[in-house]
Amino acid sequence: MATLFDPVQLGSLVLANRVFMAPLTRNRAHADGVPSELATTYYTQRASAGLIVTEATQISPMGKGYLNTPGIHSREQVQTWSRIVDAVHQSGGRIFLQLWHVGRISHTSLLPNHAQPVAPSAIRANSQTLIATGMAPVSEPVALTASGIKETLDDFRRAAANAKDAGFDGVEIHAANGYLIDQFLKTGTNQRTDEYGGVAANRVRFLTETVERVLEVWDSGQVGVRISPTGGFNDMTDENPMETFSIAVDRLNNYGLAYLHVVETAQNSKGSSEEDLAMSAHLRTQWKGLYVVNGGYDGLTGEEALSNGHADAVAYGRAFLANPDLPKRLKLGATLNEPDPTTFYGGDAVGYTSYPALT
Ligand SMILES: Cc1cc2nc3c(=O)[nH]c(=O)nc-3n(C[C@H](O)[C@H](O)[C@H](O)COP(=O)(O)O)c2cc1C
Repeated sequence: MATLFDPVQLGSLVLANRVFMAPLTRNRAHADGVPSELATTYYTQRASAGLIVTEATQISPMGKGYLNTPGIHSREQVQTWSRIVDAVHQSGGRIFLQLWHVGRISHTSLLPNHAQPVAPSAIRANSQTLIATGMAPVSEPVALTASGIKETLDDFRRAAANAKDAGFDGVEIHAANGYLIDQFLKTGTNQRTDEYGGVAANRVRFLTETVERVLEVWDSGQVGVRISPTGGFNDMTDENPMETFSIAVDRLNNYGLAYLHVVETAQNSKGSSEEDLAMSAHLRTQWKGLYVVNGGYDGLTGEEALSNGHADAVAYGRAFLANPDLPKRLKLGATLNEPDPTTFYGGDAVGYTSYPALT
């Protein structure tokens, strides 16, 4: 059985280890969605991850939902990401970009011409977002029209092509945590009566069409998908997550993707941790490719997940945020720096590039 420190094949890449860096929004980009200068240091400090998945990155101006998050739709954004990717590669790292559309989790002050956010259905989330004046309730969304869906899928394709131009090793489609794709998947946010709503096979369609558009520009071995089947974050509910996600994974199996990334114990999970893990264990047996798990793992439980066959790799969020040399620390059993939640979202180098590596 593999350990966290054994290499793993991912598409055509051989990754140095199975300690992945989970995507982490840090709200330090410029107002125009260009990553900050500090982002190069932040990601290169973490280049010893088997794979870095970047912070969620909006595919279009309408895909933005929080202050100072980066995009991958303008030339300057692509050029800046390209410098970050080069620096990570020079440090021996591998890096995927997380493609993001927030759907209804946005605010008119963040969107072009103060537009209303878009969503599968016009159902406002009981949720907050970060805007220029601080935390604020999200705005009322409008339901996407058929042509709006097509435009959004085109935006995913364009953003995927931009990520390729920037030199990324691949992309992760963000279908988790209550954002647009997850809003299509789950019954609480999708009340459509067209072919994108109703039965699970229809609710999964927006996800598979997104995958298909991204595969127009990337090889399947360079595309991962992230889901959070039992996650309640962003006011999410689903009447039958086992059915919804069994069908989603069944459909995703058709594409030979690089990996499936499952957020097992998301914030505000609706179930107990036993139910979360039972769901993930079921999807693990169903999924035909590399299975990446996330949510609350430490070195010990990560090793267990690999040794008992539950996962092929483990993604670490907060532990990687606070420990730039996490693989080395886990290998040595060294003490970990504690993450400081007050510097998670926004700010400067403090709590971003300031966490020390072992000396
Ligand atoms: C500061 C912060 C930012 C996050 N940003 C993202 C994100 O951009 N995309 C995403 O899919 N998940 C995001 N998450 C969720 C994490 O990827 C991960 O699922 C969560 O932290 C649980 O893993 P952990 O216990 O290893 O930290 C974020 C979590 C935190 C704490």
